[in-house]
Amino acid sequence: METLVQEPGKKSPETNAPENRDSKTMKALVYHGPGKKSWEDKPKPTIIKPTDAVVKILKTTICGTDLHIMKGDVPAVTDGRIIGHEGVGIIEEVGSAVSNFKKGDHVIISCITSCGKCEYCKKGMYSHCEDGGWILGHLIDGTQAEYVRIPHADNSLYPIPAGADEEALVMLSDILPTGFECGVLNGQVKPGDTIAIVGSGPIGIAALLTSQFYSPAEIIMVDMDENRLNVAKTFGATQIINSGLENAVEKIKRLTNGKGVDVAIEAVGVPATFELCQEIVAPGGHIANIGVHGKSVTLHLETLWSQNVTITTRLVDTVTTPLLLKTVQSKKLAPNQLITHHFRLNQVMEAYETFGNAAKEKALKVILTAD
Ligand SMILES: NC(=O)c1ccc[n+]([C@@H]2O[C@H](COP(=O)([O-])OP(=O)(O)OC[C@H]3O[C@@H](n4cnc5c(N)ncnc54)[C@H](O)[C@@H]3O)[C@@H](O)[C@H]2O)c1
Ligand SMILES: [Zn+2]
Ligand SMILES: [Zn+2]
Repeated sequence: METLVQEPGKKSPETNAPENRDSKTMKALVYHGPGKKSWEDKPKPTIIKPTDAVVKILKTTICGTDLHIMKGDVPAVTDGRIIGHEGVGIIEEVGSAVSNFKKGDHVIISCITSCGKCEYCKKGMYSHCEDGGWILGHLIDGTQAEYVRIPHADNSLYPIPAGADEEALVMLSDILPTGFECGVLNGQVKPGDTIAIVGSGPIGIAALLTSQFYSPAEIIMVDMDENRLNVAKTFGATQIINSGLENAVEKIKRLTNGKGVDVAIEAVGVPATFELCQEIVAPGGHIANIGVHGKSVTLHLETLWSQNVTITTRLVDTVTTPLLLKTVQSKKLAPNQLITHHFRLNQVMEAYETFGNAAKEKALKVILTAD
């Protein structure tokens, strides 16, 4: 159970209007240990290093990973941390070494912070940046706030073209690059392939949308949430399988003449779904893991050793964000399809309730808009 932490006698978030506060404070969603969070006053971030920018949040969202944090699954997140690693905003202030952006620019905030200079960044592995990686809303304060400090701003922010649908671009902070890089690119989806995506959450759907750049012949979506499967069908899935109601392995074998799939994308993060991928991959196929796993999973080398399969893992690098932005601008990709709910930023507690009960609420992505 998540509880709303509010000090006695303190005004409720809604009545504490911005004009009543001084310019050094802001409102933010703060983690206070497993099951505890509150929308409260925090100091407004300032420039600490010359490479930083401070961004005023326009729109942000909640990720499945934030729910993991709230449950206490990510112990590196400590009491007092502002959560959130997605969003779009306006540059409020830049450090003296920032050259790509200036005050007033509209930007996409990447969930991955990267210096662009270290050995890993030079390889395009921004997620392993020696002075960055996934730190926002994790090791440093994040985006579910009125303002956020972004280190290495030149490489960690992306300019928003004039006239773009900014709400849709919130999906470029994390979801779309994750589905595309960890699922579609690592899985090497090719024209004519038969692919299966296990997990029809926002990430699985992002893989579904971006896999279609490569014209796979069949896209089989597997989940236990009937609503999400039906949504997947409208987004291009050719087959849907409710693995809670039917035997997914048998059905996939039947659909593929006993062969299995060319690419199995794991987008859940539990042992059962990675095991399923191992059972449905065809000889020569790829298993592309996206899910964050908290438990060990059995690798069935006793059957896979002879099957010429490739298994990949990846933390999203967000190196494809500029490319994906172009596909959104040219309307090849419509990420606003993923948005099911809208809230004001100061209704973030309510938004967590909705997103945390996704099956009941039929939620995929919620958008929080600042005043
Ligand atoms: N590798 C990365 O860089 C990266 C980045 C972001 C998110 N992730 C991970 O990707 C995964 C998916 O993220 P999401 O936001 O879509 O999560 P989500 O929880 O919203 O969606 C997961 C889906 O899996 C389904 N599911 C659960 N158990 C299942 C089972 N046994 N069989 C079939 N379906 C099952 C659920 O019904 C749900 O629809 C998570 O593990 C997340 O932490 C990884
Ligand atoms: Zn995320
Ligand atoms: Zn780096």
